[in-house]
Amino acid sequence: QKDPHLRECEIQGDIIVGLQKDEEVFVFFKILDARKFRKVLRERLTDRITTTSSALARELQVKAYKREGHRHRLPLIGINIGFTHAGLETLLGAAKCTGMDPSFMAGAAAQAAALSDPVDANGNPVWKPAFASDTIHGVLLVAGPAREVGQPGPAETEASAIVALFGNAVAVVDRETGITRPQRGHEHFGFLDGISNPGVRGITPRTNPENPNQGVPGQDLLWPGAFVFGYPGQDPDKPFEEPGPEPHLPHPWMRDGSYMVFRRLNQRVPEFHAFLDAQAAALGTDPALLGARMVGRWQSGAPVMLAPLQDDPLLGADPARNNAFEFSQDKAQRRCPYGAHIRKTYPRDDLKDPGTLGLKDPEGFVQAHRIMRQGIPFGPEVDEATEETTTVQERGLMFVCYQTSIVEQFEFIQKDWSNAPSFPPAKMRPGGGAVTPGHDPIIGQAGGPRQMDEPLPNYPTGSVRSTLDMPEPFVVPTAAGYFFMPSLTALKTM
Ligand code: HEM
Repeated sequence: QKDPHLRECEIQGDIIVGLQKDEEVFVFFKILDARKFRKVLRERLTDRITTTSSALARELQVKAYKREGHRHRLPLIGINIGFTHAGLETLLGAAKCTGMDPSFMAGAAAQAAALSDPVDANGNPVWKPAFASDTIHGVLLVAGPAREVGQPGPAETEASAIVALFGNAVAVVDRETGITRPQRGHEHFGFLDGISNPGVRGITPRTNPENPNQGVPGQDLLWPGAFVFGYPGQDPDKPFEEPGPEPHLPHPWMRDGSYMVFRRLNQRVPEFHAFLDAQAAALGTDPALLGARMVGRWQSGAPVMLAPLQDDPLLGADPARNNAFEFSQDKAQRRCPYGAHIRKTYPRDDLKDPGTLGLKDPEGFVQAHRIMRQGIPFGPEVDEATEETTTVQERGLMFVCYQTSIVEQFEFIQKDWSNAPSFPPAKMRPGGGAVTPGHDPIIGQAGGPRQMDEPLPNYPTGSVRSTLDMPEPFVVPTAAGYFFMPSLTALKTM
């Protein structure tokens, strides 16, 4: 099968490639004057939107710059824009916004209870008020290099300049800033993030000589329709290598666009580490190993599938090796718990067991539920003096992911996998008896108590049964929004 040709100049740059971001400002706005908004968008902003082709060119530029030995990032500014369903209706009229993804049309707040986000007595999410009760029409993403100490960041300055262009056509409802941590690439619990994203046919270079269907070893190449409208997608009933039908396009203007899920997720970092210390002591294990089993990777990024008992920082840092594993061989969760964050959110070949869910093609099914993650941490480092065991200052992850179906991709992972104690299904203990894998310890949330099965490895053999009780979630959603990121042509002709 030939790779599809992607219209790289049409697709916004954060969707597949990602904007270069040491700092990223998210401006959430309401449109007050649609006519003026459309004019400014068309005449002043669209030409400055970072596309996939410019994001790819920048990637090469950054690599060359690094090779020359520069330690600082290039001062590149990336700009993208997206709209909620209410925002699109304001700009295009209701008739052009029918038949879109049902969760997108309902809006993120309406979906909060179904995702088990904390809600009040009326079922409204307990988020930052602007997200829970106000109508947000759009989000402007501005990414840039890190700020100098005491100065506003370049992304912040640029975001303010763009907001000024729109003048009284918009009202800013909320503004959020993501900042890369000093421990580059690591999220606030300390783990290397952004290791495993799907590859995309037509964009991702194939660097695994042994497998033409992969980018780096272990990175399966998906059809672009999984993330962008107007291309072949993934068929859940067929091997993932085969192209599936294009996702349904209710309106031509949606071609080359993508849905973006934004979630502001607070991380209770001192509580997480205090929990690891206390539980590791109670179980007679090491806090770093317990943390690695909860995530499925050591803080270095090394997967527990390949380094089950001890960290291997060289493995963690090596893109040619740190993704090269599957789960089906690990039948008794000796290497990686079924409930580990990465096994829940991307079970790879774990559903291969005969009869599981009665799936026509277990791997095709898994690949039809993938997302492209492009988030960034927010908030300050933990202050050891004042936050030894309890969070004082907010910090966490500005989680961002892209897909062509919010229902089948982001929401499916959160609801049907991370929040579902029985997933992955039909797992048996070596001596017999069914396993309840439990919740994803990082993002699994449910009304009742949270548990994860087998925090102790039992590797290579052993039969010490253990269960991890996780009373309070370590990740707390504090805002969310569902957006559509249109193509450049759609932005120009809105
Ligand atoms: C992978 C942390 C929220 C889906 C990872 C990894 C870490 C991590 C450390 C491993 C690195 C990598 O493979 O890139 C976190 C933290 C979160 C969070 C701290 C919240 C504060 C979420 C959410 C989702 C999600 C909300 C989706 C519902 C995934 C997926 C992977 C992943 C799909 C890749 C698994 C793989 O391909 O092997 N996350 N995550 N994460 N996470 Fe999260």
